[in-house]
This record gives sequence, C-alpha cells and structure tokens, in this order.
Amino acid sequence: VNSTIETMMQHVSVRNFSATPLTKETKETLVRAAQSGSSSNFVQAYTLLDITDSAIRNELADISTCPAYVKKSGAFFMFIADLYRHATILESAGKPLDNIRTMESLIVAIVDTTIAAQSFVTAAESMGLGICYIGGIRNNMKRVAELLDLPPYTVPLFGMTVGKPVTRNEVKPRLPLKNVLGENTYNREQMTDMTEYDKITKAYYSSRQTNATNTTFSQKMVNFFKDVRRPDVGNFLKQQGFILK
Ligand SMILES: Cc1cc2nc3c(=O)[nH]c(=O)nc-3n(C[C@H](O)[C@H](O)[C@H](O)COP(=O)(O)O)c2cc1C
Repeated sequence: VNSTIETMMQHVSVRNFSATPLTKETKETLVRAAQSGSSSNFVQAYTLLDITDSAIRNELADISTCPAYVKKSGAFFMFIADLYRHATILESAGKPLDNIRTMESLIVAIVDTTIAAQSFVTAAESMGLGICYIGGIRNNMKRVAELLDLPPYTVPLFGMTVGKPVTRNEVKPRLPLKNVLGENTYNREQMTDMTEYDKITKAYYSSRQTNATNTTFSQKMVNFFKDVRRPDVGNFLKQQGFILK
C-alpha cells in the first residue's frame, strides 16, 4: 500500500474545522485537481461555486441542517451538475436542446460532477485538509437554485465543506470485500449476506467515541429507507428542463 492509498484509506468526514480561510492558491489547486478527473466524452459537465458571501453560506448551512461545519471551515464549495454551458453552445450553433434534456445527459452530468468532487477530496486530504460532502443542501433544491441564481439544465448536487480539521472521527469500517467484489456474474447470496458486516458495524457503532449507539448496518438501512426522502427532487429536475426519459 503506497502513501496515496494509505491517505485514501484514512478518509473520514470531518465535521469540526478551524475557521481559518483557505488561501486563493489552495482553493485553485483543489479546483484544478477536481478538473483533472475523467469526463464522459470530455463534456466536463459541472461548475463549482466558491461560496464566499456569508449570507448565502449561512442559508445553505441552515438548509443542509449541518450549520456548524458548513458555516465554520476553511471554505465551502457548491458542486453543480451543469449542462447549461452545453445548451448555450448548441443555441449558438442553432441546434435544438432535446438531447441535453434526457436522463442519459443528466447521468453524464451527475457522474462528471461526482468524479470532480472526489478528485477534489483526494487532493484536499493529501494536503492534510479535511472535508465533508453536504448532500443536505438538497433538502430545498428550489431555494438553493434561487440563492445561487442557477440557470436551466443545472442541478445543485451537494456542497463540500473543507478546511483544517480540529477533531477527526475514527475511520468507519467499510463492507467486507466479499460483499462488494464479485467475479463475472452477480452472486446474490454473496453480495447480500450481511452476517459479518452486521457484527463488525455493531461493534463499531457501540464502541465509537462520539454518538455510540446499539445498531447495525442492516438496522440503519431499514431506518434510512423507511420514509420517502426529498420527494420534490423529480419535480425540481423537471423545472430545470430535464425530461427524465
Ligand atoms: C453525496 C454525499 C452527501 C453527504 N451529505 C452529508 C451531509 O449533508 N451531512 C453530513 O454530515 N455528512 C454528509 N455526507 C457524509 C457521509 O455521511 C459519510 O461519508 C459517511 O457516513 C461515511 O463516513 P466517512 O466519510 O467518515 O467515512 C455525505 C456524503 C456523500 C458522499
């Protein structure tokens, strides 16, 4: 295991940061690293917004219900899946926008944005910085779109809070390899047998230093999927011009 992999395997989401702002140079380095990832057909379908306006940042923090570590960190970025740039290119060329609006194009943009985000994370963590993805901003996508003045064919996917960690949690044990790595065909029994992982996660959740609880991965998943989550996402995507077909 080399030092890059070692750093990746030490990843934890950081939720307690120093308030010292990142320098412009550090931020630009992180964004360049984000841009270095692969991109489906090289469409580069994302935009990052560096949220420096404290009123906007505070409202994003409240929407996300993660106020402390969104408001107080070295920087807060929004990751926007973005096909608006491509729409303007097509419009300038006098072409129709139908193929921008499809489910496939939306997937392309979401995948590109996510690859950029994780490249940003790998770079940040290699510099000793900590990060936390903030999907909580999707609690109110309509308001986020207003706050950021987002055009059609864009989707605010998640925020990223980044900075110097003050405290770090323990590394969370991932699924055993046998549950996530198959060979050739999908072995239903192998992939879904949670016996070992439920034991591992029971021990992890009951003994961790903060928020110790008596639960397992399976119990957490039952709880997580108990209610419909963010039921307005489909309507928001339609409002942004996507046809979901
Ligand atoms: C797309 C995405 C959105 C997330 N949104 C939030 C969030 O809104 N608030 C939060 O505290 N953590 C958020 N997380 C962090 C996850 O809870 C965390 O990655 C997971 O529990 C695993 O823990 P670890 O990152 O410390 O290993 C998000 C992670 C991802 C990938």
